[in-house]
Amino acid sequence: MTDNSAQAMTPEAHLADVLTAYDNSPNPRLAEITTSLIRHLHEFVVEVGLTREEWFAGIEALTRTGQMCDEQRQEFILLSDTIGVSMLVEMINHVAAEGSTEPTVFGPFHVEGAPHREMGDSIITDSMDGDHEVTYVGRVLGLDGEPIEGATLDVWETASNGFYDVQDSGQTPMNMRGLFTTGSDGRYEIRGIRPVPYQIPGDGPAGDLLFENGRHNWRPGHMHFVVAARGHKTVITHLFDSASDYLDSDAVFGVRDSLVVDMSGDRCEYDFVLEALPAA
Ligand code: BEZ
Ligand code: FE
Repeated sequence: MTDNSAQAMTPEAHLADVLTAYDNSPNPRLAEITTSLIRHLHEFVVEVGLTREEWFAGIEALTRTGQMCDEQRQEFILLSDTIGVSMLVEMINHVAAEGSTEPTVFGPFHVEGAPHREMGDSIITDSMDGDHEVTYVGRVLGLDGEPIEGATLDVWETASNGFYDVQDSGQTPMNMRGLFTTGSDGRYEIRGIRPVPYQIPGDGPAGDLLFENGRHNWRPGHMHFVVAARGHKTVITHLFDSASDYLDSDAVFGVRDSLVVDMSGDRCEYDFVLEALPAA
């Protein structure tokens, strides 16, 4: 007697079929990324024994994530930040040359076209009660210790109420933002405020994921910097206030010891060190 019963498809055989279908892309990098993503997703579904209801809840959460995105709100970046993926991408792409400034997350609140300001100028357009003014000073250096002329520092921080200008219609656009360019001594001097801890937006799916997992949405006080210079790798980073709350539980996992500095006085000193790009 012959056995006509169909061979039951196993998850492994199903995965193999799917991978084969995606392995012929004319773009080899796309094929590598797509097949790896599919493999990890299939293994995840099997590992946790995902139910149909859970799968649908995930689809709904991603749908709401997309629906929340607009010019001002990037909920997918928030999601990536709060599960530590943004920081992981920074880590693996910045194999820090010994001595160069460590990067951290970019975040969703950078604005292109911040006003050019003179060295020593203030980024405070709207003063607020509780402002503790701090002057950020230091140099932009190469790994050889030589000052870099013409380096730009694009900086932004929240006002003392814990909101960026783009989140708060009560602030003048570009409050707490500025673009500074170093002279031949590589020095910078920027007047701002001591940054306050603040809550990242918690009213969407990224917030739901935090709160339902018993996490909070606070970030420790920090000033953002993008430091760029011709012939050097751009560094996207922050300086953190060493006395701030939440240094040990940053909602987006961005704190690095080398970026934690004393901001308790009226000056905060830090030298940024950029790695040279390989000669073209
Ligand atoms: C920020 O520091 O601006 C930020 C970073 C990640 C998520 C939300 C905000
Ligand atoms: Fe921030």
